[in-house]
Amino acid sequence: MHPMLNIAIRAARSAGNIIVRSLQHVDHLEVTIKSRNDFVTDVDRLAEQEIINAIRKAYPEHAILAEESGQQGENETVWVIDPLDGTTNFLHGFPHYCVSIAVMVRGKIEHGVIYDPLRDEMFTATRGAGAQLNDRRLRVAKRKELTASLLATGFPFKYPQYLDSYLATFNAVFPQVADVRRAGSAALDLAYVAAGRLDGYWEIGLEKWDLAAGVLLIEEAGGVVSDFVGGDDYFEHGNLVVGNLAVQKQILASITPHLSDDLKK
Ligand code: IPD
Ligand code: CA
Ligand code: CA
Repeated sequence: MHPMLNIAIRAARSAGNIIVRSLQHVDHLEVTIKSRNDFVTDVDRLAEQEIINAIRKAYPEHAILAEESGQQGENETVWVIDPLDGTTNFLHGFPHYCVSIAVMVRGKIEHGVIYDPLRDEMFTATRGAGAQLNDRRLRVAKRKELTASLLATGFPFKYPQYLDSYLATFNAVFPQVADVRRAGSAALDLAYVAAGRLDGYWEIGLEKWDLAAGVLLIEEAGGVVSDFVGGDDYFEHGNLVVGNLAVQKQILASITPHLSDDLKK
């Protein structure tokens, strides 16, 4: 195992432990509103600090891009961290959230870890070396028909300005598929696509820390990722469509004709 992946796994596990321990006093957590429907708790911050400390100890020269503390340092290697993906779930006691850590070297994702502390599921990937769940190798689902597919999506709950545009994509996709889940953690949605539990997924307006680790997991599990126009600018615009080759293509083809101008990217 690559030493950076090893550090990422250990950091994700420690952050997960902080999250799980804090569950006992979730009703008394201090909650701060960052912007509309965007909350942060001490648990997000503590978990993030734990991850940053572990990285700093092993790689003091590397740069960090973390959701709660922003960009720190300049280096060709950047650790991209979401200490708690699914904060709204966490705050409501809805048991579905995770830690996401990715390592980017010269703008390319090289390692990714997504850890679900409640199920003790560690999803890992290194470029060229495949994706794993705990010790099991992952492959995306083989399903080719949209009619049999279970998809996931994210609602634009932080961006009401995208609601109409989003609903146009939903209206285009939903009638064609078996069903659609909105579970509330983009990183876990991506990990589940890599694991073949979901056939595809799309969302508008993701941040780098929501998608970096998951994108590598999917690619290493044999899946496909693109932005809303079939390109690879999802880091810039945060619009993401993923799945196995057949399903990803069909989701993309379904939404493209219905995209408003602000989403043609
Ligand atoms: C959010 C979750 C959610 C997705 C949002 C993300 P957070 O992350 O992943 O599922 O719909 O786009 O911002 O704020 O819980 O880390
Ligand atoms: Ca997130
Ligand atoms: Ca978060």
